[in-house]
Amino acid sequence: MKDKFFTGKNAELTIEGKTYPLPIIEGTEGERAIDIRDLRKDTGYITLDSGYMNTGSCASGITYLEGSQGILNYRGYAIEELAENCSFVEVAYLLLHGYLPTYDELRHFSYLLGRFALIHEDMIHFFDHFPPNAAPMAILSSMVNSLSNFYPEMTENPLEDIDIIATRLISKVRTIAAFTYKKSMGWPLVYPRHDLTYCANFLNMMFDSPVKPYEINPDVVSALNKILILHADHEQNCSTSAVRLVGSARVNLYASISAGISALWGPLHGGANQAVVAMLEDIYASDGDYEKYIKKAKDPNDPFRLVGFGHRVYKSHDPRSRIIKKACDEVLVTLKVSDPLLDIAKELEEVALNDEYFLERGLYPNVDFYSGIIYRAIGIPSNMFTVMFALGRLPGWIAHWKEMWDDPNWRISRPRQVYVGPEHRPFIPMEDRVEEDHEEPDIY
Ligand code: CMC
Repeated sequence: MKDKFFTGKNAELTIEGKTYPLPIIEGTEGERAIDIRDLRKDTGYITLDSGYMNTGSCASGITYLEGSQGILNYRGYAIEELAENCSFVEVAYLLLHGYLPTYDELRHFSYLLGRFALIHEDMIHFFDHFPPNAAPMAILSSMVNSLSNFYPEMTENPLEDIDIIATRLISKVRTIAAFTYKKSMGWPLVYPRHDLTYCANFLNMMFDSPVKPYEINPDVVSALNKILILHADHEQNCSTSAVRLVGSARVNLYASISAGISALWGPLHGGANQAVVAMLEDIYASDGDYEKYIKKAKDPNDPFRLVGFGHRVYKSHDPRSRIIKKACDEVLVTLKVSDPLLDIAKELEEVALNDEYFLERGLYPNVDFYSGIIYRAIGIPSNMFTVMFALGRLPGWIAHWKEMWDDPNWRISRPRQVYVGPEHRPFIPMEDRVEEDHEEPDIY
């Protein structure tokens, strides 16, 4: 079957003297790909691409990302314009539906987000049974998976009710995130309020207390909106690919998102925002000796990496990090907070951006480099940083799950491999087995 985006041109692959045509397809922004879907059928060969460095797993109409120029568009709109002009809820609507909502559509969406904000009271008992220092990302992933038991209609025909299910999930994850924090502190839960906007409601659930009512600061609300927008989608990153891969087995949305949350937890992915602040604190504790960290990051024999730097796709500036850096400055001024970590971060950036090692490899600050400093200023503890990332990424994950479910080319995701283990050998009965040094197979 010819792909809808087939250019009419073919690439040619010659194997053992025989030439095979491979269709060239082109996306709407000129991105080109060689369609190898029939390669194995036609030639008996598969492709090998560890880490998916060069593999497109799907065609997607949600986010366009161009790494060499630092372009990021959601549904065609530049991230800079969305971050400047929209609320997070508006952008969530855009990602889910493909177009910017009218005033009435946005009002209805916001109303539903308010209506679905409670979680079943039985779920609240779950929080009591995690150990006191349980990782918030583990709690979030478990709680989101559990939602499938409380809202089982999801297993019927998900696309029929997807708007309700998506809205419910976006609303409830916010409540679960805030409750996770309150429970970790041993403080009374603050329930969601219908009269507050999405971000204000979250901040209120996080910081309101019976002994000290929380005063909602519109500048903080605006900064949170911005930061969540910047995280809302990033095409086929590790967690989104996890959501799509798990969902491709036709599992429900909650279980798929729970898998995405687990993937995001990793320090090379969303967990980097927490690791950045830990690194900046270490540098601060060592009297600002950031040169030592730059040296360690450049040492090929040291596994240390400068967290918050580098990206698989961006080999120039990450457009999100520029916006976050500016927002960071603004928030600190508004809240009259002076954070020495911000000065260290800026110095570190300056040094790295003038260093051959980082320039040659295209290593620039990524979205995680400054986000933790904003969270700190707002009062969010560092073990909640990656939960904040998850809150932002949720509409993107749902949009991808929905797109994958609806894709006429959908197949269960099932990569192949090149087997490099032992060749077939005879079975050894227990009585004949001898203890010997078993070496791990050397795969390369
Ligand atoms: N510090 C020092 N060297 C680095 C770094 C870094 N942060 N990142 C990459 N390199 C080097 C790496 O050692 C390699 O050098 P060489 O060619 O000499 O072997 C070269 O740059 C290419 O690196 P890579 O590992 O092949 O790149 P990748 O695309 O597989 O990894 C990355 C991308 C984001 C995992 C990596 O840059 C990294 O580990 N960064 C630090 C963690 C981080 O900030 N993660 C957040 C990413 S953005 C938000 C998100 O996705 O969640």
